[in-house]
Amino acid sequence: MEMELLKPAIKKNLLEESIDHLHQQSLNWQNQIAFWKDENRFFNDLLSNKLFHNVTPLDKKIIKDTLNNISLNDLEKLQKEVTAHEKALHTLLLNKNKNVYNYRHVHKELDHKFNELEKRIKDLKTAVFELVKIVNANFFDSNETIHTIYERRSVRKFKNYPIDKLHIQQILRAGAMAPSAMNSQLCKFYVLTNSEKIKNYSEEIAKVAANIHQFSLKDKLNNTDPIFHDAPVVIFITSQKFNEWAAVDVGCCAQNIMLTAKSLGYDSCPIGLAKYIENTTIYDQLNIPKEEKVEIAIVMGYGDEKPIAQERKKNYITYLN
Ligand SMILES: Cc1cc2nc3c(=O)[nH]c(=O)nc-3n(C[C@H](O)[C@H](O)[C@H](O)COP(=O)(O)O)c2cc1C
Repeated sequence: MEMELLKPAIKKNLLEESIDHLHQQSLNWQNQIAFWKDENRFFNDLLSNKLFHNVTPLDKKIIKDTLNNISLNDLEKLQKEVTAHEKALHTLLLNKNKNVYNYRHVHKELDHKFNELEKRIKDLKTAVFELVKIVNANFFDSNETIHTIYERRSVRKFKNYPIDKLHIQQILRAGAMAPSAMNSQLCKFYVLTNSEKIKNYSEEIAKVAANIHQFSLKDKLNNTDPIFHDAPVVIFITSQKFNEWAAVDVGCCAQNIMLTAKSLGYDSCPIGLAKYIENTTIYDQLNIPKEEKVEIAIVMGYGDEKPIAQERKKNYITYLN
């Protein structure tokens, strides 16, 4: 019975944390509030970042409201109160005069305010997270380069319209802006727009390719142009025979050309088989210097089909940490 009566008093004493502990807690609050202030400024800056310009006003409003709900003033006000409290506790620790300041009551109130603010900041972070997810999705859709990369397809059916010569020039200038190993810039572009020649070269290449690969002309009987797909423009890309990096250099130019063409409204297709032009009897007609080697051709024009993107294989990334 005696034990039972004593219990509440003991419990109360045990629960009452030492001044030292309260002081430590107030120091922790100070650190946390200083961090929240930085975070608050960061979130405000983030909202004015141009990445967020495409975010709908409604989406922005959610975070604006949440941010307004936790103003810097609120944080500074609480920071002042906590700092004053921390100082008072520090004095108490030195003087041991525990009666002059109702520290337990103030501590409890501050604890309540701190927890309440912490909860609001959690809500803010949830809102920021949602907004960043929207921005991330928008960025992917609205970024022109990424959009063009995803839109480009190998097109093998073209309208019978020529390409503006100025556009060909622009496209090839972009091709020349591709990186090259040791900045050697050894790639050359040979542009063919004569439809008779294109057809003729195509047939000649097809004959050679049929012997080298199991490339069947029978499959292409309905196709008047089995190699260049009746494109109005064919660009042969060469590099020097001695160039160790020829294939990579040419690949970079080819991709620049195809993406630029796409961004200007044209479609294209890389034609690896075009390299067999060198094995045809008509190769000399191109007047390509002997030191050069045809690596690939790009055909381009106004596309007359919209192929669906081929599914890409999975598991092609390994992070080597
Ligand atoms: C080096 C290389 C050589 C290619 N050669 C030919 C070709 O000779 N004829 C052709 O019709 N397509 C050719 N292609 C196009 C590929 O078939 C095409 O890129 C692939 O099917 C993926 O389709 P996509 O370009 O629409 O993503 C070639 C592509 C590359 C990268």
